[in-house]
Amino acid sequence: MNYTPSSSRYDRMKYRRCGNSGLLLPAVSLGLWHNFGSVDDFDNAKKILFKAFDRGITHFDLANNYGPLPGTAEKNFGKVMKKHFKAYRDEMIISTKAGYLMWDGPYGEWGSRKNLLASLDQSLKRMKLEYVDIFYSHRPDPNTPLEETMGALTHAVKQGKALYAGISNYNPEMTKRASEILRKSGTPCLIHQPRYSMLDRWVENGLLNTLEKEGVGCIAFSPLAQGLLSNKYLKGIPEDSRAATPHGFLQKSVITKELVNKLKKLNALALKRGQSLAQMALSWVLVKPQVTSVLIGARNVEQLEDSLKCMENTEFTTEELNKIEEILK
Ligand SMILES: NC(=O)c1ccc[n+]([C@@H]2O[C@H](COP(=O)([O-])OP(=O)(O)OC[C@H]3O[C@@H](n4cnc5c(N)ncnc54)[C@H](OP(=O)(O)O)[C@@H]3O)[C@@H](O)[C@H]2O)c1
Repeated sequence: MNYTPSSSRYDRMKYRRCGNSGLLLPAVSLGLWHNFGSVDDFDNAKKILFKAFDRGITHFDLANNYGPLPGTAEKNFGKVMKKHFKAYRDEMIISTKAGYLMWDGPYGEWGSRKNLLASLDQSLKRMKLEYVDIFYSHRPDPNTPLEETMGALTHAVKQGKALYAGISNYNPEMTKRASEILRKSGTPCLIHQPRYSMLDRWVENGLLNTLEKEGVGCIAFSPLAQGLLSNKYLKGIPEDSRAATPHGFLQKSVITKELVNKLKKLNALALKRGQSLAQMALSWVLVKPQVTSVLIGARNVEQLEDSLKCMENTEFTTEELNKIEEILK
C-alpha cells in the first residue's frame, strides 16, 4: 500500500491553540491505545492513520505501553512513520508517555527520572523518531518527588528528545504544583490529558479552572467513554465492540439497563440535532473553552469519519444543554 496524503487535508479541520503556547492542535486528535497493537490488523491500522492525516488530524497520541502487546502500537506506528509518514514529520505532533508498568523491576513504571528517561529512549527507537513533540508523565507518582518527575520532563525537552512537556491524570492540586515547577525550569507545561466525557466529568471539579489559570491546554481522552457514547450498545453488546474484546479495557458490567436508558435518550436528542450520538458527545466536549482537542479512538475508517463530523455542529442551545443535564442526572 503506497500513500500520498490528500492535498485538501487542511481544508476542513479546525486548529485550536493549546493553552498559552504557540502550538495549535487539531480539534480532533487520534489515539493509538486500542486497535494498533500486535493483536490487531496492521492494514486496517494503516488505513485509519492515512485517513486521519488526510482529514487534517495532525496529532497522534501514543504511550510506551499501548498495544497489546505493550510497545507494539509504537512499533507499528514506527513502521508507518518510516515507510509513509517520514516526509510529513514536520506536519505532525506525536506524543508518548511513561508512567504505567512497562518492564520488569523497580524502574519499569511510575515517575522516577530513571523510568521516564529510559522509557522515552525506548519509545523513540520503537517509533523510529529523533524526537517526540509531547512527552507526558502518564500518571502522578505518590512516592516520587514531583520535582524529580517534572525535572525528567524538562531534561527530555532540554536534550531535544521532546519539544513540550505534558502531564496526564493529575488532580488539580498536583497540576498546579507541576505547572509551577515546569514554568520555573523554563519548560512550561503545554498540556494536561485527562479523561473527560458526558459520563465522566471529574475535570469540572477544579481541573478545568486550574488549567485555564495556568495557561495549560487540555486534550480530553476517551470522550466517547470508550464507545459507550455511541449507538453501539443501544441493543446489546455487539461482537465487534471493545466490551466484547478480551483485551479491551471496557468492562461489560458497566453496561447496565439504567445506562442504556440514558444512552437511548441522548441518542434521540442527538438525532434531533442531526448528529449521531458519538458526534454529539464529541461536540459537547469541544464546546468547553478550556478543551483544546478531543482525543478519540477508532476501530475503523468508518468510525473515524463518523466522529470527525462532530465539527459540523458544535453549537448547543441552552435548552439542549439543560436536557443533557437532565438525562445524565
Ligand atoms: N492518558 C491516559 O491515561 C489515557 C487513557 C486512555 C486513553 N488515552 C488516550 O485516548 C485515546 C482515546 O481513548 P479511547 O479509545 O478510549 O476513546 P473513545 O473515543 O472514547 O473510544 C473509542 C472507541 O469508541 C468506539 N467508537 C469510536 N468512534 C465511534 C463512532 N463514531 N461510532 C460508534 N463507536 C465509535 C470504538 O469502539 P469499538 O472498538 O467498540 O468499536 C472505539 O474504539 C487513546 O487512544 C489514548 O491515546 C489516554
